[in-house]
Amino acid sequence: MEIGRGAEAVITLENGTVRKWRLPKSYRLAELDERIRQERTVREARITSDARRHGVQTPVIRDISRFELMMEYVQGEKLKDVITPETSKKVGETVGKLHKGGIIHGDLTTSNMILRDDKICLIDFGLSFYEKSVEAQGVDVHVYFQTLESTHDQPELLEEAFKIGYASTYSQAAAVLERVKEIKARGRYL
Ligand SMILES: Nc1ncnc2c1ncn2[C@@H]1O[C@H](COP(=O)(O)OP(=O)(O)O)[C@@H](O)[C@H]1O
Ligand SMILES: [Mg+2]
Repeated sequence: MEIGRGAEAVITLENGTVRKWRLPKSYRLAELDERIRQERTVREARITSDARRHGVQTPVIRDISRFELMMEYVQGEKLKDVITPETSKKVGETVGKLHKGGIIHGDLTTSNMILRDDKICLIDFGLSFYEKSVEAQGVDVHVYFQTLESTHDQPELLEEAFKIGYASTYSQAAAVLERVKEIKARGRYL
């Protein structure tokens, strides 16, 4: 059964296991296309598992081949549909642990978060990478805030709740949140 189809991949559920297969892109040269799809698949498998070692909930990766991943099905609601200030605070705690562990998610939208048993489970690590700079962390948080602003009512409450959670798990939070303001201002003048 197909459960998702993004710009990049087809996601199906087959007896309890999710299969994420990255589609070929005809506008890219075949060789480059294969390299990109393979790289994102490997990256997603590695960092999804590594994030769990830092106390962040992610699906268990069960198998990997060149362009596809098999992983645990995360049963729950897409955060996009159920977000509240309380859950946004939990997103902050989760992202704080990720950043403390040196991981940047790279696509922190509320479509890439699933609320399972009152906990945030992060998915879709295909654009993630290892970096500890305030700038990279700031951009990660900025993407989350932008999603809130474009898809949810009362983004301010959700943002404030996120900040409280983020500061509770990550000691460099204040510097990152200061940078987020700068990044936002920069965006306005581009
Ligand atoms: N392990 C999983 N458990 C449950 N649902 C999943 C899982 N992986 C993906 N999905 C569903 O499929 C959608 C697309 O998957 P995602 O990994 O975000 O791919 P894309 O790169 O296309 O955004 C998600 O928004 C989610 O609804
Ligand atoms: Mg996604």
